[in-house]
Amino acid sequence: MEHNDSTILIVDDEPDFLRLLKRLIQSELECEIFTALSGYEAIEILKDHHIDVAFVDIKMPGMDGFEFLDYVRENYPWLTVIMITAYGCIEVAVKAIKKGAYDFITKPVEQDVFFLSLKKAMERTKLLSENLRLRRSVQVQEAFKNVVGRSVAMQKVFEIVKMVAPTDMTVLLRGESGTGKDLIARTIHELSTRKDGPYVAVNCPTVPEQILESELFGYKKGAFTHATSNKKGLFQEANGGTIFLDEIGDIQPSLQTKLLRVLQEKEIKPLGDTKTVKVDVRVIASTNQNLEEKMRQGSFREDLFYRLNVVPIEIPPLRQRKEDIPLLVEHFLEKYSRELNKTRKRVSPELMEMFFHYDWKGNVRELENVIVRGILFAIDEEIQPQHVGFHGKSENGVWCTKVDFSLPYRDAKEEVLKEFHHRFIGNLLERTSGNISQAARLCGIERQALQHLIKRYKIDVNAYRN
Ligand SMILES: Nc1ncnc2c1ncn2[C@@H]1O[C@H](COP(=O)(O)OP(=O)(O)OP(=O)(O)O)[C@@H](O)[C@H]1O
Ligand SMILES: [Mg+2]
Repeated sequence: MEHNDSTILIVDDEPDFLRLLKRLIQSELECEIFTALSGYEAIEILKDHHIDVAFVDIKMPGMDGFEFLDYVRENYPWLTVIMITAYGCIEVAVKAIKKGAYDFITKPVEQDVFFLSLKKAMERTKLLSENLRLRRSVQVQEAFKNVVGRSVAMQKVFEIVKMVAPTDMTVLLRGESGTGKDLIARTIHELSTRKDGPYVAVNCPTVPEQILESELFGYKKGAFTHATSNKKGLFQEANGGTIFLDEIGDIQPSLQTKLLRVLQEKEIKPLGDTKTVKVDVRVIASTNQNLEEKMRQGSFREDLFYRLNVVPIEIPPLRQRKEDIPLLVEHFLEKYSRELNKTRKRVSPELMEMFFHYDWKGNVRELENVIVRGILFAIDEEIQPQHVGFHGKSENGVWCTKVDFSLPYRDAKEEVLKEFHHRFIGNLLERTSGNISQAARLCGIERQALQHLIKRYKIDVNAYRN
């Protein structure tokens, strides 16, 4: 007997025929076979099992074969359907083919014809699935083209993105500013079945509170003084696609209630309208705030939180995944030398080392900005710390220095002192825009003493005045 990986589903309201066909197939092929007595039963089977070929009786009570065929075409495009007709009625068979059935067989079943049809159907499904798989992997590559990250933490994020993207589930993206929430939201849309539909991003805090509601839900003419005509809201604009509600942490309570309704009922009510409108929109939301804390304080609705938090994705800050830095640096060097039409530059080893010790409060966006500055201001091929005004220290003063152990004591110490003074005084001058008296007051030394240090360490005060 021939073994075959294909799975077959037979749908017919006559139990005897199901048994007969199943036995017939099993006499020649060793493969998995499911049977269903109605279209409804068959749909349940499709939900839980991968089926390659389905034999479907046309005439069944309740959902008939044509209805079932429509459902399959819509939801399982790779599945090959062969219709069974008891009448051998050519018109019905032609109608089935027109509706997308691959073939039809007539009762009573003729063995040779039957197996030929089954073999061809199996081949078709195999080709189609392979094709879909390839298309999908090209799609994934395309969508992730601009998203880099090799850290375990980011790989995990990408896995969840790939898994959740094709579904309609609501996603809540969380992470500090600049970690890539916008980018990931867009990637999810690109990887979804809605990718040809609209993608509407709403940055909630930038829209004035009073306007946000009418922006999202639209209004009817006469709803308020300036509503001189009907206006479609962004939820309606996003119909068939995705809406990205960026920074939802601070939206006002009345709007939270309305948002909850959209998520529950999938419908909106424009301002001043009495009727609701159905919308088919996938929601992605983001926040860099502590929503749990806000819920405790009573400023964020718990029920809304749970509606949004169906699939939470936490994007870790850059300081927790420093192994991504070299890859991101490469990515931005490549991207911006092209966009700015500049020669390809590289980051000096000193600067790269500083990148690793820095704590990146502004995350990937901050790194991106440093690289852009470097491409614009580096004098030659190599971007040095001074070209990008990079001191390798964050506001909290984290600072690491390299000690050259090959130098004699005096010289080594002098090097460290020099670097210390450049950084320390540089930071003061930065904060005071080059005002020496003010800088001296800030650090508690005399003006003359600071002047002396500036001179001794050749610090360029003018560079801080603008
Ligand atoms: N993994 C990544 N690969 C490539 N570029 C990235 C990545 N993460 C972020 N970026 C880039 O960094 C910048 C900031 O990302 P994005 O705007 O998505 O962050 P955000 O989390 O939405 O920030 P905010 O909270 O400030 O809105 C963008 O230019 C984005 O393209
Ligand atoms: Mg953002």
